[in-house]
Amino acid sequence: MKTNIVLIGFMGTGKTTNGRRLSRKLKKEFIDTDFLIEKREGMKIEDIFKKYGENHFRKLENQVIKEISKKENKIISTGGGTVLNPDNIELLKKNGFIFLLQSSTDNIIYNLKNSYKKRPLLEKKNWTNEVSILLDKRKKLYYGNADFIIRVDNKNHYAIVNEITKLYFRNRHKKNNKNKK
Ligand code: S3P
Repeated sequence: MKTNIVLIGFMGTGKTTNGRRLSRKLKKEFIDTDFLIEKREGMKIEDIFKKYGENHFRKLENQVIKEISKKENKIISTGGGTVLNPDNIELLKKNGFIFLLQSSTDNIIYNLKNSYKKRPLLEKKNWTNEVSILLDKRKKLYYGNADFIIRVDNKNHYAIVNEITKLYFRNRHKKNNKNKK
């Protein structure tokens, strides 16, 4: 039986916020891969990018996922680029269901503009262009790797968390889960 809930999706779709709320509701420990990387390296993600580059960050991300994917009964929020490495998804799927948080470009930009977290992959000169290009490049990976798709636009956290919870309880005993929402 799969006992982890894994949240994937583009930056600014609410993976961390909803992950925290899910963790409280389901009384499962919350793990955020970016927070874990920052804690271990003693550096902010943006500084890791600046000092060592994206490739190094991706290696750290993969190391962390290798470890946490073995755990059970966790709520795992991932960074938006987790889907770039197929190994990450394969690992996370072993003990977990993959929930894609899907949002419109406008909503993503709104959230990113209001976020405390710095996103080193965005130059923030032309938000719409930058987000659309990156989103387009990754779209197939997000949709292709999701067990369930949760549309988050115009929904509050309560509704989003409820939707994920219901799907999780309805499907956790099934062996080969191919249901999509
Ligand atoms: C990234 C997303 C970020 C963080 C890093 C790279 C990406 O996490 O992991 O800046 O490649 O999309 P969030 O999705 O939480 O913003």
